[in-house]
Amino acid sequence: MTVHFIGAGPGAPDLITLRGRDLIAASPVCLYAGSLIPQGLLAHCPPDARIVNTAPLSLEAIIAEISAAHAAGLDVARLHSGDLSVWSAMGEQVRALRDLGIPYTVTPGVPAFAAAAATLGAELTLPELTQSVILTRISGRASAMPPGESLENFARTGAVLAVHLSIHALPRIIAELTPHYGADCPIAIVWRASWPDEEVMRATLGTVDLAAAAAMERTALILVGRSLGAAAFGTSRLYAADYDRRYRPLGTHPRFPE
Ligand SMILES: C[S@@+](CC[C@H](N)C(=O)[O-])C[C@H]1O[C@@H](n2cnc3c(N)ncnc32)[C@H](O)[C@@H]1O
Repeated sequence: MTVHFIGAGPGAPDLITLRGRDLIAASPVCLYAGSLIPQGLLAHCPPDARIVNTAPLSLEAIIAEISAAHAAGLDVARLHSGDLSVWSAMGEQVRALRDLGIPYTVTPGVPAFAAAAATLGAELTLPELTQSVILTRISGRASAMPPGESLENFARTGAVLAVHLSIHALPRIIAELTPHYGADCPIAIVWRASWPDEEVMRATLGTVDLAAAAAMERTALILVGRSLGAAAFGTSRLYAADYDRRYRPLGTHPRFPE
C-alpha cells in the first residue's frame, strides 16, 4: 500500500501529468483537496473508488482515512492543486506518514504561477531584464511570514514576484511594491488560470482598477515585474549564430563530443 501525492495542476483537468492520471486510475481511494481540484480529474478514479473531499477534515481525520486504507491494503491517490512543493500542506501529512511507517510517492503538477504565465503568453525571465522569479505570499490566518520574507525585502531584488494567497490585500501590496518597482511597472492578475471562467487584468502598479480587482477574490495570482509585457529586452546568446554549444558546435571539431 502506498499514498501517492499528486499535483493536480491549476484547474484544467488535462493539465495533469500522465503519471498522475494513471495513479488516480489505479488507486481505490482518492482524497482530494476541495474545490480547487476539478471534478474532471475525479472521473479518472476507478468506478468503485472511495472518493473523499478533505476540505472539511482536520489533519487527524485525513490521516485516519489514510490509516484505514493502509490497514485494508488500498493505495491512496492524494490530490492537491498545482504542484506539491508550494503551499500544498503535504509536509505535515508526510511527517505523520513517516511516523506511522506508511510509504508514499510524490508526483509533481503544473503550479499556478506557470499556468498564469501561460495565460499571459509570457516568459517571466527575459535577458538583461529579469532573471529570477520569487514565489511568495503575505501573512495569512493559517501561516505567518517568517521574519525577513517581507514583500519589501523581495522587492529590493527587482525580481518578478508571483504573489499567492494574497488578492484580498491588493491595495497594501501595491503600496508596498510601488516605491521599489515604480508606478509604471507592469502588474497582471490572473484569476482561476486555466479554468473555463478564467479572467485576466493587466495594468501598471499605478493604474490598477482596485474596484474591478476586488471582484477577483480567492484563487488569483498577482504577478509584478518588468518582464510582463516588455518589448525592450536583450536576446539570449543561446541561439546566436556565433554561440558555440553542444548540439551546434562551431568549426569542424565539436568542442563537446558525445
Ligand atoms: C494553497 S495555494 C496552492 C498553490 C499550488 N500548490 C501551486 O502549485 O500553485 C492557493 C493559491 O495559489 C494560487 N492559485 C492556485 N490555483 C490558481 C489558478 N488556477 N489561478 C490563479 N491562481 C491560482 C492562488 O494565489 C491561490 O490563493
